[in-house]
Amino acid sequence: MARIVILTGAGISAESGIRTFRAADGLWEDHRVEDVATPEGFARDPELVLRFYNERRAAAAAAEPNAAHRALAALEADGRHEVLVVTQNVDDLHERAGSRALIHMHGTLTGALCAACGARWPAPAVMRVTDPCPACAARAARPDIVWFGEMPYRMEEIWAALRAADLFVSIGTSGNVYPAAGFVADARHAGVETLELNLEPSMGTRFFDAARHGPATQVVPDWVAAMLA
Ligand code: APR
Repeated sequence: MARIVILTGAGISAESGIRTFRAADGLWEDHRVEDVATPEGFARDPELVLRFYNERRAAAAAAEPNAAHRALAALEADGRHEVLVVTQNVDDLHERAGSRALIHMHGTLTGALCAACGARWPAPAVMRVTDPCPACAARAARPDIVWFGEMPYRMEEIWAALRAADLFVSIGTSGNVYPAAGFVADARHAGVETLELNLEPSMGTRFFDAARHGPATQVVPDWVAAMLA
């Protein structure tokens, strides 16, 4: 049984119709990161930020998991390997495809977080600035999403899993955002074999032992089929 840690990014959900961040038609082409993905942006204009994530939440709800999400769930369900998916994505397509061992290191659109007291609750389809916190009643509801300048979730657990892994696979991520962009180097350091599956070579492609480039709905099911052959 191999222990496999799989990092995913926006590229795995692209063929489900969810926009990536850094493509020419990506989300960061239309929006300033500082406005919609920082605590300072939220403090300045919470309405704009909630509207941005309400749109993302609606897009995720309208999307369906694709063959790549399903292949990762099947690899886990097969039981021959110990699989952990660590996703930077805030959509819920991995869990809807059936992945169980899953860490949303950048949070999730389905969660709400009180900026005043830190309480968490399930996000309604449309979040409003007037929504009171169910715990402290403050009107400071924000999406439970990790913004720039904030610490990603469950990092100690992720690093421990990486160090203990036999194989690290990075899928559909450009390698621009740390700490996830550093996982390949962390894995190598620990003597873990590394594989990149991405549409094109990522920023860190040279650090991987092997890489296969192509659309996730092709390269991911092909890789899983080989693992289960
Ligand atoms: N199949 C495989 N890979 C794809 C596909 C596809 N169909 N379409 C695009 N890609 C690849 C792109 O080539 C690119 O390398 O997915 C990657 C997407 O990169 P980004 O848009 O930068 O997304 P990601 O790496 O997930 O971004 C990381 O940045 O702003 C943030 O917090 C946000 O979690 C996000 C983080």
